[in-house]
Amino acid sequence: MKILAIDDSNVNLLVMKGTLEKHLSDAQLKTACSGKEGLDLARSWHPDTILLDLQMPDMDGYETIRCLKQNPATAYIPVIVITAADVDSKDRVRALDLGADAFLQKPISSHELVAHIKVMLRIKKAEERLRHSQKLEAIGILAGGVAHDFNNILTVIRGYSTMLLMQTPPEDPNHESLQMIVDAAKRATSLTQSLLTFSRKQEATPSKAELCTLVSSFEKFLRRIIGDNITLNFVCDQNTSHASVDRSMIEQMLMNLAINARDAMPDGGQLTIATAHILLDSKSASALELSPGTYIHLTVSDTGCGIPRELLPKIFDPFFTTKEVGKGSGLGLSMVYGIVKQHCGTISVESAPGSGTTFSIYLPANETSETVQESQ
Ligand SMILES: Nc1ncnc2c1ncn2[C@@H]1O[C@H](COP(=O)(O)OP(=O)(O)OP(=O)(O)O)[C@@H](O)[C@H]1O
Ligand SMILES: [Mg+2]
Repeated sequence: MKILAIDDSNVNLLVMKGTLEKHLSDAQLKTACSGKEGLDLARSWHPDTILLDLQMPDMDGYETIRCLKQNPATAYIPVIVITAADVDSKDRVRALDLGADAFLQKPISSHELVAHIKVMLRIKKAEERLRHSQKLEAIGILAGGVAHDFNNILTVIRGYSTMLLMQTPPEDPNHESLQMIVDAAKRATSLTQSLLTFSRKQEATPSKAELCTLVSSFEKFLRRIIGDNITLNFVCDQNTSHASVDRSMIEQMLMNLAINARDAMPDGGQLTIATAHILLDSKSASALELSPGTYIHLTVSDTGCGIPRELLPKIFDPFFTTKEVGKGSGLGLSMVYGIVKQHCGTISVESAPGSGTTFSIYLPANETSETVQESQ
């Protein structure tokens, strides 16, 4: 967790640093001794929370809040105002009206400060998750609509061009051009199919399957995809229960994740796929935006290059890719996302540059959910 403290008093900054180091051992702290310096750091460092003094020369705390909340890049960072005892309720209202998320008046105990930071972080995470799923939902509706119509048009292009190609002998000067049209139409069809999978418009054919068996029966194929310099490990929980899944969609999902892992480990490494049976109580389920019940927890981890923090919110977006032109279309993870959602599950990712990547997927086990959601 990254915390930025903005205060013109060095003594205050030192006290704050000591408190955080003592009570929040996983916190990284940066300090700024003016509003201007704080704004620059907030834009470049993307802290999770800002602790802000009100009375500062040059740019005071109010102006700092206003600038932070006006800039889309910093507007979502929670701001906790920490101020001296001699402010009145008007100051509090003013700061809150400008967008401060909490207002603490000295003297503040270290426990009170830490509790406020923890609440802010929880709210920020929940807001981020909500914004992210709303964004993907909106893109899905748009992409699904376009892909559906486009697919119908492509059926006509593919049908007529294939028919003409069959009627054209190879020595005909038009044969090669027709072949190119047929090939391009096939590529466009595969692209629109990926978008339809992302937007859950692909027909699902659910059947009861034991996830561990399904994954291991796909092992040979996955080994071929990842090549010899990557070790594939399977960790199957003996208790892994059945789920209603579309077999080919789950295979597609594993394949896309394995290809990404392979691309992230050009010099070799470890790819580990694990399945576990897990019971989520109401607290742990709500943190994952699921209903309480039994789930199959599937994790796909690699020891590859990892994903920079600022790119993590974008990786499920259709057409987001960091691969060079012609190497990736940026649809692999969008399809994975669509497949997980179509199975009423959830997916999250943990990654850091140099530390590998773990995709964590929860799919309802049969005890809690009987069927895979059918496409509309
Ligand atoms: N296991 C991983 N390790 C590191 N980066 C990853 C991993 N998986 C995904 N990414 C990042 O997420 C981006 C999007 O992945 P996605 O699978 O959607 O598209 P792609 O692999 O670039 O192209 P496509 O899958 O369509 O061929 C990748 O370009 C890469 O930057
Ligand atoms: Mg991919």
